[in-house]
Amino acid sequence: MDITFLLNGESVELRDVAPTATLLDWLRDTRGLTGTKEGCNEGDCGACTVMVSDDAGAKALNACILFLPQLHGKAVRTVEGLNSPSGELHPVQEAMINHHGSQCGFCTPGFVMSMAVAHTRGARDHNDALAGNLCRCTGYAPIIRAAEAAQDAPVPAWIKEDLSVLEGKPAQTHHAPTTSDELAELYARHPKATLIAGATDVGLWVTKQLRDLDEVIFLNQCKDLQQIEETAEGLRIGAGVTIEALRQTDLLPPSYREMLRRYASTQVRSAATIGGNIANGSPIGDNPPVLIAMGATLHLRYRETRRELPIEAFFLEYGKQDRHPGEFVEAITLPLPVQRLKVYKLSKRFDQDISAVCGAFNITVEDGIVAQARIAFGGMAGIPKRASAVEAALVGQLWDDDALEAAWDAWSVDFQPLSDMRASADYRLETARNMLARYLIEDFGGDTNVLEVRA
Ligand SMILES: Cc1cc2nc3c(=O)[nH]c(=O)nc-3n(C[C@H](O)[C@H](O)[C@H](O)COP(=O)(O)OP(=O)(O)OC[C@H]3O[C@@H](n4cnc5c(N)ncnc54)[C@H](O)[C@@H]3O)c2cc1C
Ligand code: FES
Ligand code: FES
Repeated sequence: MDITFLLNGESVELRDVAPTATLLDWLRDTRGLTGTKEGCNEGDCGACTVMVSDDAGAKALNACILFLPQLHGKAVRTVEGLNSPSGELHPVQEAMINHHGSQCGFCTPGFVMSMAVAHTRGARDHNDALAGNLCRCTGYAPIIRAAEAAQDAPVPAWIKEDLSVLEGKPAQTHHAPTTSDELAELYARHPKATLIAGATDVGLWVTKQLRDLDEVIFLNQCKDLQQIEETAEGLRIGAGVTIEALRQTDLLPPSYREMLRRYASTQVRSAATIGGNIANGSPIGDNPPVLIAMGATLHLRYRETRRELPIEAFFLEYGKQDRHPGEFVEAITLPLPVQRLKVYKLSKRFDQDISAVCGAFNITVEDGIVAQARIAFGGMAGIPKRASAVEAALVGQLWDDDALEAAWDAWSVDFQPLSDMRASADYRLETARNMLARYLIEDFGGDTNVLEVRA
């Protein structure tokens, strides 16, 4: 694969790049740019954060799970290129020094890169922007103070230049189609190829499982898969829309957006796509239960043949989805508005953690009686699964505490969860029941804030 991109302001052309060579390895081993650190090598710590820009703006991404071909046509900045060509520090670097934001310094390059990206968009949400960067010695307070101190400084000219230099650069590599039509044709001819969207799953197959991927097709050049449009059926979200772009969509129900704030970290959300989160069929993916509770429609495509199915019908059994060879996820449509949706993500850490249980509730009440219920869970079965028996037990009941009683036994009809390192089976079942109670309490205006501790 031949690719071209900007590295710290200079053009780089690479020939015959191995499709699954990571940016982190290349920076450190080939270019000697060792400021970008390797901590976990699986997207969890942020020590390898770099700035990647294109016409959509700058993103903080984890270089350890970023394959070189994903950079084609983009501009990359590492910590070595964050200051000006004449050596002037970036405002966030200056602020980190002034506010004592670094001790051992292993995590510091990742922090300043995340801070510099957040700075390009005038960010004030520093806790969210830095949730994917771990520091075990300095403590976060001086780092957040540094981010606040730098937030109003102008974006340096050398950072802005990355975007203008790239304008009009053609993007073309053999395995990276630029439209969904090209993708449909290429994938039909190579149905055994591994599709790579954000690589936040596939990256780990390579860095942790050491798998060789024979044939790959990169999706990230297909701009038409990255659109969000309002249609007569609802909000159509292209498979290539990133989780971060989805989170920024103000048409989404607030509870869904709040859950997405807790999906992984800024770096992972800026790479991961909704299509990847559905297609991987993971039983603990955070979007599928929400999409099921909302009654979303999945759009699949093989060449020019398209089909639609209710999203829950896509998940057949653990590791098996209703997708034919050469067929890919093209989009998902959400029937908005959905007024009554609440999503509860339960994980050991607030940020940057996979759910033990993720419950989504969409219950309609008319004249005090449950008229309709759509409830779905991740983490409770081998697939993201609808709670059909619970729904049936609720419909027709008075919407009060008795409804919880009426549904009590139905939970174990719907779910026989597993015990694993995230939670025991009993805990999962109990917590699912409690989520319904929480939904009810909130519906009557009760306070269920789980982040506040009161005496
Ligand atoms: C540190 C870290 C934290 C994470 N935290 C969370 C979390 O909180 N919640 C959560 O749900 N997930 C989490 N994940 C998992 C991951 O981010 C998601 O599953 C992600 O959405 C996958 O999307 P992607 O675009 O990166 O997919 P990729 O890794 O590119 O692909 C994943 C799979 O989907 C296939 N695929 C991709 N796009 C398509 C398409 N359009 N059509 C057909 N097949 C396709 C690929 O071939 C592959 O099999 C985390 C991952 C990491 C590394
Ligand atoms: S090395 Fe930890 S996120 Fe990349
Ligand atoms: S400065 Fe030491 S771990 Fe971050």
